[in-house]
Amino acid sequence: MEEAVPERPAAEAPKAVEPPPAPEPTPPAPAPEPVAVKPAPEPEPEEPARMKAADLLAPNRLNVMHEEAAEPEASVGHPEIIAFANQKGGVAKTTTTLNLAVAFAESGYRVLCIDLDPQGNLTMSQGIDPDKVEKSLYDVLVNDMPISEIIVKREIDIAVASIDLAGAEIAMSTKIGRERSLEKALKEVAGDYDFVCIDTPPSLGLLTINALTAANKVIVPVQCEYLSMRGLVQLQNTLKMIQENLNPDVVIEGILPTMLDTRTVHAKEAVEILEENFGDLVFRSRIKKAIKFAEAPVKGASVLKYDSGSSAANYYRELAKEVLANGTAE
Ligand SMILES: Nc1ncnc2c1ncn2[C@@H]1O[C@H](COP(=O)(O)OP(=O)(O)OP(=O)(O)O)[C@@H](O)[C@H]1O
Ligand SMILES: [Mg+2]
Repeated sequence: MEEAVPERPAAEAPKAVEPPPAPEPTPPAPAPEPVAVKPAPEPEPEEPARMKAADLLAPNRLNVMHEEAAEPEASVGHPEIIAFANQKGGVAKTTTTLNLAVAFAESGYRVLCIDLDPQGNLTMSQGIDPDKVEKSLYDVLVNDMPISEIIVKREIDIAVASIDLAGAEIAMSTKIGRERSLEKALKEVAGDYDFVCIDTPPSLGLLTINALTAANKVIVPVQCEYLSMRGLVQLQNTLKMIQENLNPDVVIEGILPTMLDTRTVHAKEAVEILEENFGDLVFRSRIKKAIKFAEAPVKGASVLKYDSGSSAANYYRELAKEVLANGTAE
């Protein structure tokens, strides 16, 4: 925890993500598919039956994404820092953060989860009561407490939330460098982890901005409903602002269809619309609806621990494989 953290090299860092020290080598990554660069948004047809890319994306979004994808990955000694964000509530941000993190840990990676949501759902999902937590991310973000002091070891390591995190945005608002508080705090533990997974609240306020500023990747869980997808524009605008002002390196790792009810035509259509508009950015993995996802947090466990052999657990193992393949494909 006390090691000095090396600075990122300025320019020509190697492209490959550093493999973890101990773990099993991940299954061979599928050959990367050629990136399908989408044409510029076409003029609006008179009466479009479905949303078009232009409805969802700022004009230069895809260009930004692909340019960023060509940049060097995180350098030696730096974990992959993934923020799970969508300002829409109840789209499985917390469920995805925890279960994907545990899937990484199952593969031998060292994983830290950050509960940046004042609701404290991630903290609760690991059997910790946020009302009884004495030191939390509030102290880290507002009072510059070392993050190592608030990390609790469970299935994965977790930097816990407490109820007072709700006041952090206001308390931080007058602080210089308020958008970079989390990024700064994470430097202390950068050498200790291969992945840092940050759960964010359902808003695009200062806590989420801290997550996006600290992260190099963003995973966007999206509930497979037509209306849920409209909110992606707003998230994209916030991300563009972050890229321009605070963190040019952050990119969307992928959009994850969650809570998929494969029996309904509506859900299938919603996924098709996502794929039409976001192409390769949509993960191939699908998280289907399963009651186990609601049951597991009550037991203070991930689904992978609660029912390790279930198909629900395997959805996130598949996602972990896909994320690992993306990160090491180049
Ligand atoms: N695949 C799934 N199938 C069924 N239920 C699910 C699934 N994924 C998550 N849930 C349940 O849906 C609810 C919302 O999920 P979750 O808390 O992960 O969403 P969230 O985006 O983090 O919400 P918030 O915006 O409030 O933080 C929870 O009760 C969770 O157990
Ligand atoms: Mg949540």
